[in-house]
Amino acid sequence: TGPRDRVTSVTEERTSEPDMYTTAGKVADLKNRYQQAVVDADEVAQKKQHAKGKMTARERIAELLDHGSFVEIDEFVRHRTHAFGMDKSRPYGDSVVTGTGTIHGRQVAVYSQDFTTFGGSLGEVAGEKIIKVMDLALRTGVPIIGILDSGGARIQEGVVALGKYGEIFRRNTAASGVIPQISLIMGPAAGGAVYSPALTDFVIMVDKTSQMFVTGPDVIKTVTGEDVGMEELGGALTHNTRSGVAHYLAEDEHDALEYARTLLGFLPDNNLAELPEYATEVELETTDADRKLNTLIPDSPNQPYDVHTVIEHVVDAGDFLEVQPLFAPNIVIGFARVEGRTVGIIANQPNQMAGTLNIEAGEKASRFVRFCDAFSIPILTLVDVPGYLPGTDQEWTGVIRRGAKLLYAYAEATVPLVTVILRKAYGGAYIVMGSKQLGADINFAWPTAEIAVMGGQGAVNILYRGEIKRAEEAGEDVAAVRTRLANEYTYNVASPFLAAERGELDGVIEPATTRVAIIKALRTLKGKRATLPPKKHGNIPL
Ligand code: HXC
Repeated sequence: TGPRDRVTSVTEERTSEPDMYTTAGKVADLKNRYQQAVVDADEVAQKKQHAKGKMTARERIAELLDHGSFVEIDEFVRHRTHAFGMDKSRPYGDSVVTGTGTIHGRQVAVYSQDFTTFGGSLGEVAGEKIIKVMDLALRTGVPIIGILDSGGARIQEGVVALGKYGEIFRRNTAASGVIPQISLIMGPAAGGAVYSPALTDFVIMVDKTSQMFVTGPDVIKTVTGEDVGMEELGGALTHNTRSGVAHYLAEDEHDALEYARTLLGFLPDNNLAELPEYATEVELETTDADRKLNTLIPDSPNQPYDVHTVIEHVVDAGDFLEVQPLFAPNIVIGFARVEGRTVGIIANQPNQMAGTLNIEAGEKASRFVRFCDAFSIPILTLVDVPGYLPGTDQEWTGVIRRGAKLLYAYAEATVPLVTVILRKAYGGAYIVMGSKQLGADINFAWPTAEIAVMGGQGAVNILYRGEIKRAEEAGEDVAAVRTRLANEYTYNVASPFLAAERGELDGVIEPATTRVAIIKALRTLKGKRATLPPKKHGNIPL
């Protein structure tokens, strides 16, 4: 099972008392220690973790990485704490396994907390191990993956443990936008410890067996009187659906590790590295599959459809890795490939809340835009948005401040930006969803697009108040008058050809030609260069 990279074999009989004055004795001593630090430790851990339906820290690494590629470091590290009788137990490696390896043949750095040693808690030396491997990842420009399973700061070590968390947070922040950071939560992540994954780019949680919370159920009960269970408070479902802390709900540990591997396949090693590229032959003629898009948009503007269909028809092999699918499903984000190269996709979802933008959708999409921009991943935006979600709840919880993030993120992005307006693009939501004016490079619309300050019905209420009143007084069918006026408005004012006439779009395209139009647009933009004025950093509305 476990990795064996430091010694050629540990299967020989353990040498009981090696002669330390000979070379053979020293090699045997190393093997003995290695056996104890890695092989025996993992056997003990297996018993405890398997009983709980979990893998050990090393098993998780072995499954995450390409077979046999793990090179462990610091397996002989031991804590130096005397408090609370800790000096009586000084296991090798302490509570975390760290090292490097490959995923799809590309280098990554990894740490994996070992819950079977002091509850995976982070004391001085466990902290130092994590910090060392993070520094190595940063220095060599490779992604860092953290597998968390820990009771948090080691209680016996007090402020020293807290200090190490501080150092980890600082490195998470320094690494942000430089190397991809992925966190897999495979057990508890309690207290301030949750802030390390929170600072990373993607958080993957395992259904039923992982929890994240700043204060646990007992503290909550004492302070606020609220009764809440661990799972409801901070389980994987909660963080994937309600809080938006997590980006993927894995059904088990295998699923979580597989998702991380697939995700990394889309990402560059660092912010200066080229995107991974897969050899792909694309068809540049319109295919039968392409033609299906011509009939996707329903005749009635109120009838929804699934935007995944559009995504699947325009990317390589229909292959789309969705991120945060359960949170704010009214916007869809994720990675796909076009001509073998990664693109980030942001799409309004008409079959969820009619595709309106709310605070959660805005924040979900902004963070994704910024991730893509930091790592030079071109962004494809698919627009069908009737506007911002109205209501006091939205206004009072800061839709102005928090909704501004998406504007900021798009306006700041210098990666290639391609936008296709499928149907509705109304008001501020038109501007925010990758409009030309915000900096998009190539903007298309389908002939079904409706681009205007507001939808037909809303406009009729304001523009044709007099007409509606007259119709009422004349005893006419008011609903029919409204519909006629709204349709006229949509046809005359919201037509994509008005936008095309003014050059606000680069073209109106038949849906069936979208896939090829996107391929060609991304080819055009491959060498895009854009700069922002020099500054220390901007001040995104938070
Ligand atoms: C030292 C710890 C520990 C910790 C668990 N253990 N957490 N040891 N420091 N923080 C030990 C336990 O004593 C036990 O040791 C073993 O790990 C397994 O723990 P159990 O409680 O038996 O496991 P379980 O029932 O599964 O419960 C897991 C748990 C619980 C929910 C995580 O252990 C727990 O609540 N721990 C404390 C969590 C916490 O409040 N941490 C501090 C958070 S504040 P033995 O020897 O009996 O096997 C924080 C600040 C970060 O982290 C600062 C950032 C700024």
